[in-house]
Amino acid sequence: MFNITKIQGWISAGGYFVLFGLLFACGLGLPLPEDIPLIAAGALVANGKMSLLVAAITAWFGIIGGDCVLYTMGKKFGLEITRVPFIGHHLTKARIQRVQLLFEKYGVGVVFIGRMFAGIRGAMVVAAGAIRYNFATFIVADGLGAVVSGGFFMLVGHWLGKNLTEEKIIRFKHFFAAGGIVAAAAFIGWILWRRRHRPVVDHVIKVLGADPPPQASAPNLTVDAPRSAAYASDRQVDSTCPDIHSITKEPSMSAVTVQPLAYPFDALEPYIDKQTMEIHHGKHYAAYVTNYNKALEKAPQLVGKPLHEVLANNLALVPEEIKTAVRNNGGGAHNHSLFWQIIGPKAGGSPVGKLGEAITSTFGGFDNFKEKFNTAATTRFGSGWAWLIKRGEKIEVISLPNQDSPIMEGAFPIIGLDVWEHAYYLKYQNRRPEYIAAWWNIVNWKEADTRFGRAM
Ligand SMILES: [Fe+2]
Repeated sequence: MFNITKIQGWISAGGYFVLFGLLFACGLGLPLPEDIPLIAAGALVANGKMSLLVAAITAWFGIIGGDCVLYTMGKKFGLEITRVPFIGHHLTKARIQRVQLLFEKYGVGVVFIGRMFAGIRGAMVVAAGAIRYNFATFIVADGLGAVVSGGFFMLVGHWLGKNLTEEKIIRFKHFFAAGGIVAAAAFIGWILWRRRHRPVVDHVIKVLGADPPPQASAPNLTVDAPRSAAYASDRQVDSTCPDIHSITKEPSMSAVTVQPLAYPFDALEPYIDKQTMEIHHGKHYAAYVTNYNKALEKAPQLVGKPLHEVLANNLALVPEEIKTAVRNNGGGAHNHSLFWQIIGPKAGGSPVGKLGEAITSTFGGFDNFKEKFNTAATTRFGSGWAWLIKRGEKIEVISLPNQDSPIMEGAFPIIGLDVWEHAYYLKYQNRRPEYIAAWWNIVNWKEADTRFGRAM
């Protein structure tokens, strides 16, 4: 009735999944999802059941295919939810941002290295999808890394396959069964200990840089430090989580924060120069965020409210005393965080998707639309923005003064062009029309179309 060998097999298999599942979930880079087939392929090659070439090609495509799935999942779900357990090791906004900073600082090299460590790579793939890191570049770098790490695991499999004996199989079984039991016991022990020592655990989590739990009265965050300082410590990266509306539609209980660029400061050359971007992002934009949070010290009931809710209905929720400060600085924070997203490197061209269709049907073509937008941007007296907005069912081109947002008048901003002198003066001096003409080369129409979709 009972087959002892089979039962032993089930126990060791269960142990394997407990052991590696827990380590995997903790973010430790261990071979779980895809390196096991590689080891198996290596073993099959060693036993003459598969040719090396077939095994290598199958494994490589398997890895890349798996990454495509993870990337797509990150892209699809990363925008909507804040936690995706076991995908990307508890992907959170802070972790997405951390990966974003890594990409920004080290480029595709980090993808190549990350591939060597399965756990880190899983998080990177999902985060890349969530922040829409250049997919083609990512896959090429990851694919090259896969050749190296995949080769390693196939060699491991080859060695195991060649040396596999009954005795060794039994030893593996015992190892996984015992390891699984120990891991499960340790996990349960940790849960119980954590319940008893909650304050200590919270402190450790805080020090290690995990996400702080949402608090109704979360303190305002300061953001006036130079952006590069965000690299200096994980804690700061966590505490300057990206602006909520860039990542998720869910309301946040934390204050408005500076949203890091998804590309290096010099990525928009020659259209916008590095120094302008550094000052624009690191000083002007950061100052809007800081001053907004400061203004809210007099209206703590607004802390944690999404910025678009505070700005809505001509700032109806905002007390009279701080209305001007919130209009200027809240508007500035919102406008700029949108601005960084709708521009980017390797962009430009013509509008795409449903937005492209709407522009054609509304304005009679892209050129007509551009002309209208250029006029709005050029003729905006003093400082302000030109906007493409959606109001009701229609799209329109408008311009607004200072840091006023279309949200204040009930419209949805799709793209906006900052025509404050701080946005262009270093390179273009008084030649605003030249800056406007150059700007079309960096408009991220894909992102604009996504925003348009969100306004539907
Ligand atoms: Fe600006």
